[in-house]
Parts: sequence; structure tokens; C-alpha cells
Amino acid sequence: MFDKRLMKVCPESRKYIIGNVLLQWFELVCNALIFYELAGIIAGLVSGGSFSLQDNAVNIAIVLSTVIIRFIATKFAVKMSFLASKTVKRKMRGMIYGKLLKLGSAYRESVTTAELVQESVEGVDQLESYFGQYVPQFFYAFLAPVTLFVMFGLLGSWTVGLVLLICVPLIPGAIVMVQKIAKKLLARYWGQYTELGSTFLENLQGMTTLKTYQTDGFKNEQMNAESDKFRFVTMKVLTMQLNSIIIMDFFTYGGAAVGIALVASKFAELGIQPALFMILMSAEFFLPMRRLGSYFHVAMNGMAASDKIFKFLQLPEPAKKPGVIENIGEIRFSDVHFSYDESREILHGIDISIPEHSFTCIVGESGCGKSTVASLLMGRNTTGSGSITIGGKNIGEISEESLMNSLTYIGHNSFFFEGTVRENLLISNPDADDEKLWSVLERCRLSEFLKAENGLDTELLENTINLSGGQRQRLALARAILHDTPFYIFDEATSSIDVESEETILGLIHEMTETKTVIMISHRLANVKDADCIYVMENGSIAEHGTHSELLKNNSVYAALWERQQELENYGKGESA
Ligand SMILES: Nc1ncnc2c1ncn2[C@@H]1O[C@H](COP(=O)(O)OP(=O)(O)OP(=O)(O)O)[C@@H](O)[C@H]1O
Ligand SMILES: [Mg+2]
Repeated sequence: MFDKRLMKVCPESRKYIIGNVLLQWFELVCNALIFYELAGIIAGLVSGGSFSLQDNAVNIAIVLSTVIIRFIATKFAVKMSFLASKTVKRKMRGMIYGKLLKLGSAYRESVTTAELVQESVEGVDQLESYFGQYVPQFFYAFLAPVTLFVMFGLLGSWTVGLVLLICVPLIPGAIVMVQKIAKKLLARYWGQYTELGSTFLENLQGMTTLKTYQTDGFKNEQMNAESDKFRFVTMKVLTMQLNSIIIMDFFTYGGAAVGIALVASKFAELGIQPALFMILMSAEFFLPMRRLGSYFHVAMNGMAASDKIFKFLQLPEPAKKPGVIENIGEIRFSDVHFSYDESREILHGIDISIPEHSFTCIVGESGCGKSTVASLLMGRNTTGSGSITIGGKNIGEISEESLMNSLTYIGHNSFFFEGTVRENLLISNPDADDEKLWSVLERCRLSEFLKAENGLDTELLENTINLSGGQRQRLALARAILHDTPFYIFDEATSSIDVESEETILGLIHEMTETKTVIMISHRLANVKDADCIYVMENGSIAEHGTHSELLKNNSVYAALWERQQELENYGKGESA
């Protein structure tokens, strides 16, 4: 009935849980006192006849002051419950976030983004009831009947107390029976819930595509089917919860009835005040356990969610590497073989040598493995054979921090955060002042546009939809220049943008090659003509390498590609002429 892992996660919440239990216990004592005094007043009425304020002044004063004290205790108990769940929620979210940072982009291999969002938002929220209500109630539900048993005994009837005490465990017995079914059902419920969330997010993101191809109807039906499955499992969970509540109510009120009947049978022997007190308090034996039962369902949901969270927290993390790049020097691939999965090798023994401060290009047909080479340089995949070294150090031993301080990768689809241009630029260089930012934006031909907008405070919307493709890519270049690393990789950084933006970016890349080591991957051979060395890839191997003129002389793969592209470009020019 308890998840030990959850309790271990946050020992800080223990004091609040204990505080909550003690306050609830104090409330029970207050209740007992109030009922005892009220029973006294009634007993007086029964034996004395009329009610007078003077005779009962002390009793009334005790009742009123106890009500006030109990009210204060309730307020503090609620506060304790809030503090217990707040501490746990903060800690859990911190752990999820920390894990995410350690995993880096590798998290996508194990969980979907939607699943992660649901776990860290709603999943963690479910723990609120677990720590704030269920755990304290768990202890209180045992403490309360024992306290009442002692009270009943001291007031004259250990027997009634004992009978009621024995009946109390019937409720947790029912809970345990339900737990077995509940666990499986809730695991299914959460599985279905996160699946539906993933589909919903994907369809929402792909809405434009769905509309363009008029397939939104089909996806709609698919989602309806999934929602229906979710509805079905939700109904099953609710039915299970309602059924178990009926069983618990039966034991609660049945037990209280047994107690009342027993007290009634001994009424004369016990005396009016103790007997009335016991009748009024009988139900209190069972109600804490009954409440535990209802919290249990919410807590089970929290536990099911926490199973998923723990699974995420236990994902293997990339090993920490101690190596540091002191000097970029030469970048070398020696006989590198690589495959994403065992079924298909992507790179078949690649040899590449990139001297410091050189401009190297990689070309080849789509799917031949160019981006894979770039991702290996980013240290993303370190499996496979052969060696990749930067400045003589094996890339598998270089720490991520050192690697990221030495190289900058610019792909064709750069990501920007919602926020101002300044905030997005400072990501790559937090120390840069406005003057520096403007000078880089000037070089990237963005200053004019931004000045007409709101300068560095221009807001970027979600997915940078308020920038054109060319502007976005020039902004990505500005951010990359600000990063100021000795090594840059451009992977199709100028594909699918306007000619002027392409020229600006290529011009800046050329400027960079004077002081930096630059690798450029490009479909367009016209862009790579001036490279110090061009590597031509074909089906995961290096077919040939050399300068543009050397490769043309070779009259092989590159020359054929060049000719084909020239024909296409001349055809285009001929058409427009
Ligand atoms: N994450 C991945 N998991 C499995 N296979 C992959 C993965 N990324 C790429 N591949 C496969 O590796 C091969 C090489 O892909 P890569 O992206 O390196 O090609 P590319 O030369 O960059 O192509 P393009 O010019 O179209 O960008 C492709 O056949 C692709 O299917
Ligand atoms: Mg690619």
C-alpha cells in the first residue's frame, strides 16, 4: 500500500507528514472532548429536566473554545498537507528536469515529448494527493481507532472498543482486494492516456499538412477510436472505484451500527453520558479508514504515474567523459564504420582528414551519409568501429562540454525559443553586449529589418513564424557567429532559402574560413567550388576527394554530378531568358 521509492525520494517532506498526522490526531481529541461535553449537557437535561445557561456555562465554554482550537488545528493540518506535497512536487520536477539535461536530446529515443510533458505536469500533480492526503491518512487511520479504543475503555467499556477495533481492518482488507485489480487497470489507463496525448500533439503539429492533403478526416477517425479506448478504460476505473466505495461504506456504517447496538444494549450499565459519547463517536472508528480508502484511489493513480516517472529517471545516461580539447588541430576520420541499427551499415570505412583552419566540403547524393558524418563529429553516436579524432584526441573521450565549446553546428532548420531576438542570441554568448549583437546582425544583413521592427527586443513567436525562411537562417548564422568556436559545421545551411540570403551566408562562411576550421555539407556543388578539399560521398563511402579542379580532371563521380547540375542550372537560365 506504500511506495517505498516515493518515500525515499523526498525525506524533507517527512516532517510535514508527521505534523499533519499529529494535528489530525489533535482534532480527534478535540472532537471527543466536544462530544463528551455535549453528551454531558444532554445527560443533565435527561436527569435534571430543564436547561439553564448558568449550570452549563463551564461545559459550553469548553465546547466553544475547543471548537476554535480545533479550527486552528485544521488550518495548520491543511498547511502541512500543502507543504508536504509542494516539497515533493518541486523535488520530482527538479529530478525530471535534471535527468532531461543529463540525457540531452537522447531522451527522444526512449520517451515521446508529449509523454514526458504529461508525466512531469499531470503525473507529478497526482503525487500531490499521495503525499498531502494519502500518506498522512495512512498513519492517522491506524492511530485514530487505537485512541478511541483507549477512550472507550477508560469510560467504562473495553468490550465495545475492542469489537469496533476488530471490525476496522475489514476496510483495508477490502482495499487490498481492490488494489490488485486497480494496479493493472491504472497502468492501462496511464498507457492509454499518454498515447492519446502523443497522437493529439502530433496531429496538432501536423495540422497544416493534414489540411493540405485533406487527410484530417482520417486522422480524426483514428483519434476518435483512441479517445474511445481511453473513455472505456476511464469508465472501468470509475466503476472499480465506485464498487470499492460501496464495499467500504458497507463496512464503515455496518461497523458503526454494530457499535451503536452494543452500546444500546449496555446503556443502563454505562450511564447516559459515556453511552451517548460512545454512540456519537462509533462512526469515528471507521471514518478515517474509509477516507483512506477514497484517497487510496487517487494515490494509486499517483503511484501509477510515478512508475512511469521512475522508469524515465532510471534511463541509462551517457557516460561522463573526461577529455578536453586544448587545440582543435587536425580532425581525422580513420576507417570509420557506422550503423544506426544492426540491420544496415551506413558508413563503410570512411577516411577524412581536415587540417586546422581549412575549408572542407562534403557532397554526395541524398541519403549517402553526409549528415551522419556531421552527427558523429557532434559526438551524438559513438558506437561503430574506426576512430574519429579532434586534435589527436579520440572523440569518444572528449566531454560534451568541451566538444560544444569547440564546435558549432548549423543545420537547415534551426530552433529558436519564443522570446526576444536578444534573448535568443545571448544563448550562444551570454556576455555579448548590444553593440556586439548589432555588429553581427549587420554582418548577417538583419539589422535593417530588425531596426524597422523592435530592435533587439523584437519578439520571436512560436516556431519563429514571424520570420521568413531566409531571415531565420541568417539569424541562426548570427547566433552561430556569436558562439565563436574554432570549428563550424554547416549542414545544408543554405538549402531552401532565397538567393540573397544564400549569398550572404556563403559570403560569411568564406570569411570564417580564414580563422576557423569549417566543414560545409551541401547539395549545390556551385557552393563548394572554392573549398580547400571536397570529399565526395557515394553510398556511405568516400568515392574521391580533392579540389574542384582536381575532381573535374578525375572525370568521375564529382564530374558527373557537376555536369548534371550545370545542365539543370543552364536549362533554368535558358528558360527564363
Ligand atoms: N537516426 C537515424 N536512424 C536510422 N537511420 C538513419 C538515421 N538518420 C539517418 N539514417 C539513415 O542513414 C542514411 C544516411 O542518412 P544521412 O542523413 O546521413 O544522409 P544525407 O547524406 O545527409 O542525406 P541528405 O542529403 O538527404 O540530407 C539514410 O539512409 C538514412 O535512412
Ligand atoms: Mg543530410
